[in-house]
Amino acid sequence: MFHAQVLTLFPEFFDSPLACSIPKRAIEAGIVAVDAIQIRDFATDRHSKVDDSPYGGGPGMLMKPGPVVAAIREARQRQPGTHVVMLTPSGSRFTQAKALEYTEKSSITLLCGRYEGFDERICDYVDEEISLGDYVLSGGEPAALCVLDSVIRLLPEVLGSPESAVLDSFSEEGILDWPHYTRPEEFEGKRVPDVLLSGNHAKIEQWRKSQAASRSRQRDVKGKGHDE
Ligand SMILES: C[S@@+](CC[C@H](N)C(=O)[O-])C[C@H]1O[C@@H](n2cnc3c(N)ncnc32)[C@H](O)[C@@H]1O
Repeated sequence: MFHAQVLTLFPEFFDSPLACSIPKRAIEAGIVAVDAIQIRDFATDRHSKVDDSPYGGGPGMLMKPGPVVAAIREARQRQPGTHVVMLTPSGSRFTQAKALEYTEKSSITLLCGRYEGFDERICDYVDEEISLGDYVLSGGEPAALCVLDSVIRLLPEVLGSPESAVLDSFSEEGILDWPHYTRPEEFEGKRVPDVLLSGNHAKIEQWRKSQAASRSRQRDVKGKGHDE
C-alpha cells in the first residue's frame, strides 16, 4: 500500500476531497492510505503556538521550526523511508513526471505551510521543495491536495481504465491531450470533426496526434515532445 501523510494545521481540509470519486475508491480499496498529522500537536508552549514574527521585521508571521521539525520527525518515524516534500512557492515546479516519480516511492509526506511561510532552517529537514506554480496560495493544503490527487490516480489499479493515465496530457513530455467529443454529433451548430465519425482508426490516430502536437505548440507547453 502507498502511504501518504500530510503535515498541516488544518487536517479537516482534506476530509471532503478524499471522500469522493477516485481518491475515495483508492482509499477504500486499500491501495492508498492518507494520514494527517496536526503540526500544532508538537507545539511545546502552553498556548500551542506554531508561528512567530520574523527577525529583521516585516509583515506577517512564520511557521516556527520547533513544532514543524518535530512533526517531520514523527512522520519519518511512522513511515521510515518516507519522502518529505515541503510545499512552497520557492520550490521546483510540480509536473506529471514528478507525480509519476512519487508513485515509485512507498510513502510521501507533504508539509503544508501557512502565514508567510516557513522559517528557512526547516528546509534542512525536508527532502525536496515543490511549488505548484507561480502564484501564492494562502496555505500549502490546496497544493498538497493537487499533488495527492495526481499521484493517487497514477497508482496501479486506481483508474478503471489504466490507459487513460498513459494518454493524459503531459504523459509524454511537452504533449497535451488531443480534443475529445461525445454525443450529440452536432451541438448548437458545432459538428464533431468528420474524421472521428469515419470509423477509419488509422486516420483517427493520425488526426489525434497532429491535434495534440499543434495545440501543445500553440499553448507553448514546456518540454521536448512536440519539437521532435
Ligand atoms: C501565503 S503562503 C507564503 C508565501 C511566501 N511568503 C512567499 O511569498 O513565497 C503560505 C503557504 O502556502 C503554501 N503555498 C503558497 N503558494 C504555493 C505554491 N505556489 N506552491 C506550493 N505551496 C504554496 C506554502 O506552504 C506557503 O508556506
